[in-house]
Amino acid sequence: MRKSIWAMSFFSLMVAGQCIAEPSGAAMREYEQAMEMTPDLENGRKVYRICAVCHTPEGWGLDSGAYPQVAGQLATVLIKQLADIRARNRDNPTMVPFTSPQLLGGAQEIADVAAYIAQLPMSPHNGVGPGIDLALGEQLYKDNCTECHGETGEGILDDHIPAIYGQHYRYLLRQFEWIKMERRRNADKKMVKQIHRFTHRDIRAVLDYVSRIKPPKEKLATEGWHNPDFPNFARPSTMHSGAGYMIDQRPTRPSRPR
Ligand code: HEC
Ligand code: HEC
Repeated sequence: MRKSIWAMSFFSLMVAGQCIAEPSGAAMREYEQAMEMTPDLENGRKVYRICAVCHTPEGWGLDSGAYPQVAGQLATVLIKQLADIRARNRDNPTMVPFTSPQLLGGAQEIADVAAYIAQLPMSPHNGVGPGIDLALGEQLYKDNCTECHGETGEGILDDHIPAIYGQHYRYLLRQFEWIKMERRRNADKKMVKQIHRFTHRDIRAVLDYVSRIKPPKEKLATEGWHNPDFPNFARPSTMHSGAGYMIDQRPTRPSRPR
């Protein structure tokens, strides 16, 4: 009797363990499959049509940080994030329906759209912070971030470490805080450790600094560039003014009606 109870609880532990391990396993498999594909840019452009609705045809997202700039991001990072979001290894309730196999496709389409996005020129005017604590920000960056994100925030292609230069300040802030409080499940454990002592002032200072690092000239779009692949896309005039759905103001937990 005793023995079977032991066996049963051991079994349920294993099942529970598998449920926890499963999402990242699925994401990893998809990442590896997509990495083996030869990307088709023309198909990537077609797939990107549904992404453009939120990330904008240029891939520049919004200053408000509601949607990140994806243009110019390293292809390996794009593939990993797509695989994680789709496997629910990174929560993104707004975007997850658009990553279904019916809409996005499989590993080939992930490789295609990642290659398309990676070659888009980046915004010359991303959202930046208040600019009041940049010396502290620079010091913190040099002491804590270069090892992984590179001297200028360019990331590391082979290790799928994100490029963070030129990203909207408010998006950086949200992701950094979610990584710090371990709300982003795919967070890098070493990064979490590295930043756990950061104060609010430190966080704002370092990310303001990062948002102001200009990507190399050849990665930036020229003034007034519009993506010619989407000539008929209706661009609301408010698009780059910081208006938009404020995802960071979403309540963390639904509250009970009073
Ligand atoms: C309905 C809006 C919406 C659509 C459509 C959408 N996304 Fe997103 N996407 C988002 C939001 C919101 C985030 C940021 C979520 C967060 O804050 O964690 C995001 C994040 C991302 C990220 C992570 C970026 C980073 O640096 O962390 C990638 C990559 C991405 N999207 C690619 C795509 C691709 C490719 C498509 C099309 C197949 C797509 N998205 C379609 C809303 C959307
Ligand atoms: C040990 C390596 C490491 C260190 C140190 C590190 N990071 Fe990261 N960081 C990562 C990895 C890896 C990711 C992506 C995790 C994933 O796969 O989703 C990441 C993600 C991020 C993101 C989210 C980017 C996006 O597009 O979603 C931000 C912002 C960020 N790091 C900022 C920083 C800053 C600022 C510092 C220094 C204070 C720092 N990181 C230190 C490895 C590191």
